[in-house]
Amino acid sequence: MSTTVPSGADTPRRDDPHAWFDHARFGLFVHFGAYAVPARHEWVMSREEIAPKEYEKYVELFDPDRFDARLIARTARAAGMRYAVLTTKHHEGFCLWDSALTDFTSTVACGRDLVAEFVDALREEGLRVGFYHSLIDWHHPDFTIDSFHPLRHAPDREERNAGRDMARYREHLHGQVRELLTGYGRIDYLFFDFTYPGEDGKGPEDWDSEGLLAMVRALQPDILVNDRLGLPGDLRTPEQHQPVAPMVDGDGHEVRWESCQTINGSWGYDRDNHDTKSADLLLRMVVDSAGKNGNLLLNIGPDGRGGLRRSDLALLEEIGEWMELHEDSVRGAGPAREMTAPQGTLLTQRGDRVYVHLTAWPMQSLHLTDLPRPVRAARLLDDGSEVRFGLIEQPEADLHAHMSVNGLAPGTVTFTLPIRRPDVLLPVLEILLDPAPAG
Ligand code: GLC
Repeated sequence: MSTTVPSGADTPRRDDPHAWFDHARFGLFVHFGAYAVPARHEWVMSREEIAPKEYEKYVELFDPDRFDARLIARTARAAGMRYAVLTTKHHEGFCLWDSALTDFTSTVACGRDLVAEFVDALREEGLRVGFYHSLIDWHHPDFTIDSFHPLRHAPDREERNAGRDMARYREHLHGQVRELLTGYGRIDYLFFDFTYPGEDGKGPEDWDSEGLLAMVRALQPDILVNDRLGLPGDLRTPEQHQPVAPMVDGDGHEVRWESCQTINGSWGYDRDNHDTKSADLLLRMVVDSAGKNGNLLLNIGPDGRGGLRRSDLALLEEIGEWMELHEDSVRGAGPAREMTAPQGTLLTQRGDRVYVHLTAWPMQSLHLTDLPRPVRAARLLDDGSEVRFGLIEQPEADLHAHMSVNGLAPGTVTFTLPIRRPDVLLPVLEILLDPAPAG
């Protein structure tokens, strides 16, 4: 086997401060907040139009005695994730860090700075650190009541808004982002959420997004910032769907992107929602993203005590078992640009190696017609066992009738797979190509 590609994922380029992200391909999203107590989705405050004063009862109940940041970090790493993003504050306004700008924090509620615990745990596991931060704050007295606000149908909505000052709220918003970017060391990724311009909405001018982004860049020059300030960011963030191809900008140039996905459709803990995706589907989304030059950010929502769902842990463990054997087909991998994936496969490529993820196990033969260069060798990635192959070098007409392969074009490479499918979540054929010509 050639040693041109280091065994195990090769390291990201050093000249790009964001190369770690592209190399990682897979991260963990953690939605935790007071909304985990009502346990009916993170938008419960808005959906059920719970007034801020009424909502504070959930903070009185908030006691994350089972929130274990080190368990979360270990679980993420074992699942093959290389970064994690925690909701520092969601739309409800409850802050998971010791903010000097409000008492509506986990520190006041239960004496814990959960952001600090999360950052320390990630660093112990060698994971990159991401913060989700909502631009929205349904609890803040100066945040004007709009189309999503829990008080949107209050009879005295206009009177209430007359006393609210978004300039004061902007100062609060920028001040809290400053706290997060100066109080916890290097932060690798900032996931703002979200801008909804138009009638009764809030656009970039409501946040002073230009000023906010300038401050972020000044405080953490290498940070990755997403695209939800109402301004272009460092990456696109399709949500709960998979792009059909590598994402491009208006000029057709490929852009960095990350699909954020849930296990059951809800970001925050939603006790009675059992719409759980299978490990097979979740894994195929990871591979699909890498094969389209993107990342997958997969979410968990700790429960009302901060504990993790056993079913979520089981899914992540199953994905981790696959990653332990097949990491090379995702980490640092990208699209197999010169190929079209045959039916029943997902393709990725890393250097001279093409990875064929077999979502359906073929009847012995796998035919590839557009490999970019001659094949030197091939193996099943799970056990490293050789897979033999042959090149269709003559037109079908010359083959013996019983050997006819139904019109395969000359140049097709046929791989002979074992009859029995490997007992792994998603079998992978690794194909080593001749080295690309120099230059
Ligand atoms: C949407 C949801 C928000 C969630 C976010 C995750 O904006 O409204 O609740 O945190 O997606 O990307």
